[in-house]
Amino acid sequence: MKIAAYDVREDEKIYFEEIIKQLDLEIVYIDEILSMDTIELAKNCDGVSILGHSQIDSTILNKLKDLNIKYISTRTVGYNHIDLEYANKIGIKVSNSNYPPSGVAEYTVMLMLMSSRNYKQAMFRGNVNDYSLAGLRGKEIKDLTVGVIGSGKIGCAVIDILQGFGCKIIVYDKFIKEEIKLKAEYVDLETLYKDSDVITLHTPLLKETYHMINKETINKMKDGVILINCARGELMDIEAVIEGIEEKKIGALGLDVIENEEGIYHKDRRTDILINRQMAYIRQFPNVTMTQHIAFYTDTAVKSMVTCSVKSLVDFINTGKSELEITNN
Ligand code: COI
Repeated sequence: MKIAAYDVREDEKIYFEEIIKQLDLEIVYIDEILSMDTIELAKNCDGVSILGHSQIDSTILNKLKDLNIKYISTRTVGYNHIDLEYANKIGIKVSNSNYPPSGVAEYTVMLMLMSSRNYKQAMFRGNVNDYSLAGLRGKEIKDLTVGVIGSGKIGCAVIDILQGFGCKIIVYDKFIKEEIKLKAEYVDLETLYKDSDVITLHTPLLKETYHMINKETINKMKDGVILINCARGELMDIEAVIEGIEEKKIGALGLDVIENEEGIYHKDRRTDILINRQMAYIRQFPNVTMTQHIAFYTDTAVKSMVTCSVKSLVDFINTGKSELEITNN
């Protein structure tokens, strides 16, 4: 059994090696993403493991089929980078990975605290011996209403952590979880936009959720609202968010993801000319804290991402099935 692992970082290799010891398989490590330029490197492999930087469109899927590769596993929870419908149509099976939601949830709450306490400014000032207080007065989470969009695993983990802060928590999801009702109040989206002091996004990127934070929805929010996004950049129309900051409608922003981050985040681009004006512009606001899509990045999560991916490929290859298989139904 042979697997091609694309886009492999050094810190993932230890976990790939651990699995190789447990299971009888060979892994071909490929530093680059899976693309038409690198796809031949997977020749004679039974499955491919990728990260979210590989865009798996119909051309790639057709080529995988030509190479007789029937299984793809992404070492991520999100799978919006894979044309699942086409994969299903041509009989290529796809799985994702899972990892405990606590890492992203903790990070989300950290961004909430950083945003509500003006931490970025305080830190910048300290670096130049400016110890003034002006403009740094914050808000206490306990006094706020936090609106959580999405009560999937991560949204629920955020709600759990927030229990300790004593804030009011409201939540929106199409699917209601009885156990969450004990900790938060389910409301419709309109109410969530209207009543929240802090809004945090924990919903997958789908056709229906693309740009759900836009000019119209921002207008429905409270003045000074704090927005947090540790999910997917494309949930927010970045141009509308910029306008919201300029107009002081948005009070603070904590972004671990941003629209059009692909090709920039997770790379050292210090000496490159970066062509992403929105990213450069939004970063400079004093009330915008941005990080490079690292909310997931913990030792626990990385181990789990690699392990899930390899195990699901092995299951697919041995049985044609995997518990982690995803379909577009
Ligand atoms: C995911 O697992 O979906 C993530 O967002 C993490 C990815 C950037 C490696």
